[in-house]
Amino acid sequence: MKVLVTGGLGFIGSHTVVALQEKGYEVVIIDNLSNSDISVLDGITRITGVRPEFEKTDLRDKAKVIDFFNRYNDIEGIIHFAASKAVNESVHQPLLYYENNIGTLIYLLQQMQEKAVRNFIFSSSCTVYGEPDTLPITESAPVKPALSPYGNTKQIGEEIIRDTAKAYPKFKSIALRYFNPIGAHPSGHIGELPLGVPQNLVPFVTQTAAGIREVLSVFGDDYSTPDGTAIRDYIHVVDLAESHVIALERLFENRQKTNFEIFNIGTGRGSSVMEIIKTFEKVNTLKLNYKIVGRREGDVTAVWADTDLAEKELGWKARLTMEDALRDAWHWQQNISAK
Ligand code: UD1
Repeated sequence: MKVLVTGGLGFIGSHTVVALQEKGYEVVIIDNLSNSDISVLDGITRITGVRPEFEKTDLRDKAKVIDFFNRYNDIEGIIHFAASKAVNESVHQPLLYYENNIGTLIYLLQQMQEKAVRNFIFSSSCTVYGEPDTLPITESAPVKPALSPYGNTKQIGEEIIRDTAKAYPKFKSIALRYFNPIGAHPSGHIGELPLGVPQNLVPFVTQTAAGIREVLSVFGDDYSTPDGTAIRDYIHVVDLAESHVIALERLFENRQKTNFEIFNIGTGRGSSVMEIIKTFEKVNTLKLNYKIVGRREGDVTAVWADTDLAEKELGWKARLTMEDALRDAWHWQQNISAK
């Protein structure tokens, strides 16, 4: 069975390609390499022994999307990762974000209706919940006004899919709302490859440990949390990748309850920035240079997932720990630093 993975050379995409191949699926990747590197194809191949098909295509080019679906008429399902994800950049370049994240989604959905491709997994984010009223967050928690154009693209994306599912009853989709993906493949062959200065915590931590960054800034220690630093639900990317395969199989086997479903994908456990630093130091036996600075604008205090629905309906649960993720992230960083 053939699965299209858009953004398949990115951080979560590449790990999902591995998970799909390991379950025997044939994978074709579309990626425009705007935030990824072609060497990731080699990394995937080293892990699975199978080189996925690859098309360097920009999904903003509608003619190319049409051409792709004319050439590949055996696609059974699509996992759509290709999108921009830098919150701050989205504030300054909103139109780029709407074009990249919404325009491309529409072209894909149009071609799916055109070519009767029925099964669609969408990358959404816990960012849709904003600052939650209660913790842990269930899927029925209200979607709050988005704090950034990036966050808005995830909310709008979900709405577009909901309307599409209403209009086309044979179309089936699951949106996965990710919490904070971290870590790398335990083989050390694939991981996160941030371009420029990392915006996310763990890549900044590993680059600081590697001496690429001088000091990690901890954004705020005056939050109303036990140690004053903000809390997130950090999930190992390998667990996250697996959830996509399980979700897709739910659609393939027609086990979905409605033709558009939403699941939280997290561990159900919250960790503070300080816990991440201390655990990173402990599992990798090193010291991290860090300093406390002011809060980062737009950051929420505490977010972690209620994962009951994913466990009950998908039969999926995170297996790996934050310790595993921080060990694997450091292993990966050492590999890329040595290159
Ligand atoms: C951010 C986005 C989220 C997006 C996700 C994907 C915001 C508000 N949210 O999540 O919508 O889906 O990235 O990329 O931007 N931190 C530091 N120092 C650093 C970096 C981060 O202290 O150098 C802290 C942050 O303040 C936060 C935690 O670490 O408390 C996690 O930050 P990050 O990895 O950027 O993820 P989010 O902000 O949760």
